[in-house]
Parts: sequence; structure tokens; C-alpha cells
Amino acid sequence: MYESYWQKMGEETTIVIPGWQFMSYFSDATRLCWFLENDFANQIVRLHDVVGNAVTENLHIVVGTGSTQLYQAALYALSPDTDADPISSNGHAGCALGNINRKSLKCTTVYLFSNCIPCTSSRWALVKDEDVARKMTKYIEFNTIGVSKDSQLKATKVLKVVSDNSRRRNAGSSFFEFSRGFK
Ligand SMILES: Cc1ncc(COP(=O)(O)O)c(C=O)c1O
Repeated sequence: MYESYWQKMGEETTIVIPGWQFMSYFSDATRLCWFLENDFANQIVRLHDVVGNAVTENLHIVVGTGSTQLYQAALYALSPDTDADPISSNGHAGCALGNINRKSLKCTTVYLFSNCIPCTSSRWALVKDEDVARKMTKYIEFNTIGVSKDSQLKATKVLKVVSDNSRRRNAGSSFFEFSRGFK
């Protein structure tokens, strides 16, 4: 459905990654979500500004490989029983839904661009509570040792194109205009 849009964008979304770059697991060790690339974080903030669907100030961004992973991380973080290993023996986050911290749940939102952009890791959570963000990050660390750098780099480029083009409405290149064209 969206392939024709991205074909039209052509080289704008091309990325080149030299083999020696991005070898560390860490993106920014000073950041709470240490595997989140700084450029990707900047583009996420920018996109929310462009769309106007969230205030990102004073919120923590936690990036995930998929929304499923982020929901599991949130369930783990909001569960009162988080002393246990984040991953149970069957690979799933274990927690009783009835006991989760509902106040922090309200301040934890998962955003997904889903498969309408040509890459994974186009999912992230905006989290108000630092402790919840820290636990979500821990969950993803245990689960997949962070999020693929390659896909974050691609997502960064793609989000940039979406934000850049959102202002060029008449040129027919706005992603949002294109999306509204579907009946
Ligand atoms: C590599 C990869 N991991 C995980 C997912 C699952 O993502 P979600 O949980 O948002 O459906 C996808 C979906 O496209 C994917 O491509």
C-alpha cells in the first residue's frame, strides 16, 4: 500500500553504513535508554512536534524493536513484582494485569508507525515515570540487548523524510497527504 510512496521518495531514504561503524551495543551511555541513537531520538521529538500529538518535554523515550516488545516491557515495568528475572522461562513477561500501577500506566504511551514506513524499530514509548522507563529499558536489554542500530538508522532517515515533506504539501510528497488518499 505504501510502497509506491517510498518508491517516489527514491534516494531520500537511502542509507550507507560503513562496516566499522556502530559496533558498540551502546548508543549513548549517558541516556536512560542507552541503546537509543541520539539522531533517532531527535527525529522522534521532531515528528511529535510536526504532528502535534504529544508533548515530549520531560518524558523519556524508550525505543523497541516492535510494539509487542514495548507492551511487554511496560507490563513488566508496571507490575508490582519486578524483582524477578524480566523474562520468564517461556519468554513472556509475567504479571497480573489487575495489579499493575495504573497511575504510571496513564503516563506511558506506545507510538508505532507500524509497517507503513519501510523499516522496523519504528516503535517507541514516551514514558513520564523515570523508574518505569528504566525498567522498560532493562526488559529490552534482557530481551534483545537493545534495538538494532541498523534499523534505528534507517528509521531516523525515514522519519526525517516524513517530517521534511510534511511541510511541502503542494509538492504531493507529504506522507500524511498520501495516507489520507486511501479510502
Ligand atoms: C523485525 C521485526 N520485529 C518485530 C516486529 C513486530 O512488531 P510489532 O510488535 O509492532 O507488530 C516486526 C514487525 O514488522 C519486525 O519487522
